[in-house]
Amino acid sequence: MVQVHAHLCTPSCLERLHYEVVTGATDGIGKAYAEELARQGFAIVLISRTQEKLDEVSKAIESKYNVETKTISADFGSLDIYPNIESGLAGLEIGVLVNNVGVSYSYPEFFLNIPNVDSFINSMININIISVCQMTRLVLPRMVDRSKGVILNIASASGMYPVPLLTLYSSTKAFVDFFSRGLDAEYKSKGIIIQSVLPFFVTTKLSKIKRASLDIPTPDRYVKAQLSTVGLQTQTNGYLPHAIMGWVTTALLPAKLLNKYVMSTGLSQRARYLKKQKQG
Ligand SMILES: NC(=O)c1ccc[n+]([C@@H]2O[C@H](COP(=O)([O-])OP(=O)(O)OC[C@H]3O[C@@H](n4cnc5c(N)ncnc54)[C@H](OP(=O)(O)O)[C@@H]3O)[C@@H](O)[C@H]2O)c1
Repeated sequence: MVQVHAHLCTPSCLERLHYEVVTGATDGIGKAYAEELARQGFAIVLISRTQEKLDEVSKAIESKYNVETKTISADFGSLDIYPNIESGLAGLEIGVLVNNVGVSYSYPEFFLNIPNVDSFINSMININIISVCQMTRLVLPRMVDRSKGVILNIASASGMYPVPLLTLYSSTKAFVDFFSRGLDAEYKSKGIIIQSVLPFFVTTKLSKIKRASLDIPTPDRYVKAQLSTVGLQTQTNGYLPHAIMGWVTTALLPAKLLNKYVMSTGLSQRARYLKKQKQG
């Protein structure tokens, strides 16, 4: 089910504006992209699941940054949403697309032990992979016509190497990274920037981390740093401490050692989670 709501503006006035489109825009990193690009003067299309949250975020952005917003509610877990998103975006000049929506595991788990693994597989692939391909298919043609546009695909550092016990998540993010880098090579000469963004931990609902530190930034801090890399790097960790962590884990540590370390971290997180659940 998709609903489209326009705010503050008539359709003819929307056509003249440059829009930034963000998926998963009502929380965490996506919300931070919407706010930061609104601050830079873009009109914003917010796409997310919950209309009440969309209304809340769009109202806050309009009053704080005095820009136009439009909301589209869509559940990226479904495959039938794209015609409606397409009509919601029709006529808009889109300068930036941030493919941000993504979901992870509720706790690290062996593949076959994931609760409701059958529907989990479909839902994660629809949200983390299909959304990136379909949103790109919808937005890229006008960018190519104008020889101008930026697409930021939010993958994850866990797409840089296999993360056992988060295997499906890690694999979807590796897909996003490859998809971005391949497309960037295809469309660079047509004036389009397509960037693969690979964050380590950021304080959000998804990471379940509340306290920020140097290596775990808030979404605002992360997004400000990341945007300064657009046009400079095709593939980026987006934030200096994350870039150092990326270098250490992929260039310095032998893959075997890294794999062992990541597996043992996952096992102890899993044990902690299951113990807590048992204690109820
Ligand atoms: N946080 C990290 O440490 C981290 C690290 C690396 C990569 N990433 C990536 O960064 C991206 C954003 O993550 P985040 O941490 O900001 O997540 P988050 O805080 O959980 O926010 C996710 C956003 O996506 C929306 N969303 C979730 N499922 C949806 C669905 N089925 N259909 C439509 N919208 C949906 C949520 O809306 P509702 O509130 O309505 O559910 C929310 O606006 C993801 O791709 C994630 O994999 C995050």
